[in-house]
Amino acid sequence: MKVLGIESSAHTFGVGIVEDGKVIANEKMMFKVTNKGMIPGKVAETHVKNAAKVVSLALKSAGVRIGEIDGVGYTRGPGLGPCLQVGEMTAKTIANKLGVKIAQVNHGAAHAEISRELAGMKDPLILYVSGGNSQILKLSKSPFSHYAILGETFDIGVGNMMDTFAREVGLNPAWGSTVAKVGESGKYIKLPYTVKGMDFAFTGLLTNSIKRAKSEKIEDLCYSIQETAFSMLCEATERAIFLTNSTELCVCGGVAQSKRLRQMLGEIAKSHAMKFGYAADSFNADNGAMIAFVAERMLGKGLGSKIGECGIEQRYRIDRAVIV
Ligand code: FE2
Repeated sequence: MKVLGIESSAHTFGVGIVEDGKVIANEKMMFKVTNKGMIPGKVAETHVKNAAKVVSLALKSAGVRIGEIDGVGYTRGPGLGPCLQVGEMTAKTIANKLGVKIAQVNHGAAHAEISRELAGMKDPLILYVSGGNSQILKLSKSPFSHYAILGETFDIGVGNMMDTFAREVGLNPAWGSTVAKVGESGKYIKLPYTVKGMDFAFTGLLTNSIKRAKSEKIEDLCYSIQETAFSMLCEATERAIFLTNSTELCVCGGVAQSKRLRQMLGEIAKSHAMKFGYAADSFNADNGAMIAFVAERMLGKGLGSKIGECGIEQRYRIDRAVIV
């Protein structure tokens, strides 16, 4: 079975093709995020311009004709409304032309599932960290197969927090990886640290760090905001390890590309004699292949939708998505 998956929840328009569980194409084009951040309507316009091009690129790199596609998947949510709609409409257009079913995929479940597969894990504790999300997840069979949320951010995602800090203090490009780079020569200074059980919050850390940019060295703030945020995630994750007795730990999502976070989690896993793993960066950044991967499984289990049954959900919680 060959399935084409479309991701468009934020700045990336990605198209992946999966054949019998193997990724055979993973192409993308991105909206360039400036210091103004992301205005959903503007990002969606860029997706409209890029959609046909990225579909063609994916088919070309897989060596597959559009007529050979057996099913289509797209990101139902969570994400930015106008951006999600471009992916939904592209999926419907292709499915209509081919007369195939559509899988409505949860974005976070796609990150978790492709990472679980590529890390070679069966039932890991998962730390899902990205711009919009930060959650500690574990598969649960009751009342249906889904990812239970053991802990999560009370306010914003850790990636959004780091990007906003970078933007507010004038770093360019305004991304978490720039904060990490500038912080390489920094020293630790104490910043607000908020963990409640297995939940955490980042806005106090963000606003305090922005305020202190007037008086502290930028490299010290960059170093400390990252160390503080990642330590919060690690404390909550370690508590979840004790609760679940997990033997595998997996990190996924855009922030899983951080070497420092992977190092910290790797040390925790080692101290608990756990297997630790993650997918390659191209699957942690938003991508179409992860949508195609989950879509193929859903369609194989009869969880496809007709065109009229599809929609988008900006706040589609991961624990409502059926995992097959
Ligand atoms: Fe994502």
